[in-house]
Amino acid sequence: MNMDNNDNQNVANLPSLPINSDAFPISTDFYKTAFQFQQIMMIYESAIKQIETKLEILSKEINVNKRRNPIQNIKTRIKSPESIVQKLEKKHFPVNFDSMISNLNDIAGVRVVCPYISDIYSVKEMLLKQPDIKLISENDYIECPKTSGYRSYHIVVEVPVYLSKTEHNVKVEIQLRTIAMDFWASLEHQLHYKNPEEVPESIRRELFRVAETIAMTDREMEEIAFELQALDN
Ligand code: GTP
Ligand code: MG
Repeated sequence: MNMDNNDNQNVANLPSLPINSDAFPISTDFYKTAFQFQQIMMIYESAIKQIETKLEILSKEINVNKRRNPIQNIKTRIKSPESIVQKLEKKHFPVNFDSMISNLNDIAGVRVVCPYISDIYSVKEMLLKQPDIKLISENDYIECPKTSGYRSYHIVVEVPVYLSKTEHNVKVEIQLRTIAMDFWASLEHQLHYKNPEEVPESIRRELFRVAETIAMTDREMEEIAFELQALDN
C-alpha cells in the first residue's frame, strides 16, 4: 500500500542496537507518545483504506458497465513522522498532535492516476457525490497550472472512520492526474530534492515547455478516444 516504503533499504545501515536497557532507556513519556502516535496513524491509515475502496468500487462498476477503466492506478502514502514535524516547523505551527491533526491536510495521501482528463473530473464528481464524503478544499491545477507547469486536480476530503467506541472525521488529500501528468510530476519532483541554486533555469524552462506539450497530448489523446468510442455507439 505504501508508495515510499524504503524501510528494507536502510536495514544494513542501522547502527548496532544496544541490548542493555540501561544504555537505551525508554521513558514512560516516550512510550505514551509513541502509543498515541500509533493510534492516530491507524486512524489515518483507515481513512486511506476507505477512500481507496470507494475508488476501486467506482472503477469496477465502470469496468463492468462500460468495459473501460477510468482509473489506471491508485497510490497511497502516509506522511512520515519526520515530514510531519518538518512541515509543522516550516509553517510555524506548534509541534504537537492537536496541531498536526488540525493544521495538516496531507497526512493521509491518495494519488489517482487516470487515462484521460475527463476521467479525472468524472471520478472526482462520483466520489464527492457520496453522502459520507465532505469536501474541505479543491484546487484545479489542470485549469490553472502552477508556475512550474504542474497539473493535477487536488481535493481534500473528510471521511468518517468508525472504531469500536469512537467515530472520527479524517482528512485525506487526493491528487488526481493523468498518466502523462504523473510522468511529468515524478521527474519534476526530483528538483525539489536539490538546492534551488543547483538547478539551471534552462531545466525549469524545458520542464515547463514539456508540461505544455504533455497537456496538448492529453487533450489530443482524449479526442481520439472519444472518436473511437463514437464508432462503437
Ligand atoms: P504543500 O505545503 O506542498 O502541501 O503545499 P499546499 O498545501 O499549498 O498544497 P499544494 O496543492 O500546492 O500541493 C500539494 C502537493 O501537490 C505537494 O505535496 C506535491 O505532492 C504536489 N505538488 C504541488 N506542486 C507541485 C509541483 O510544482 N511539482 C510537483 N512535482 N508536485 C507538486
Ligand atoms: Mg502537501
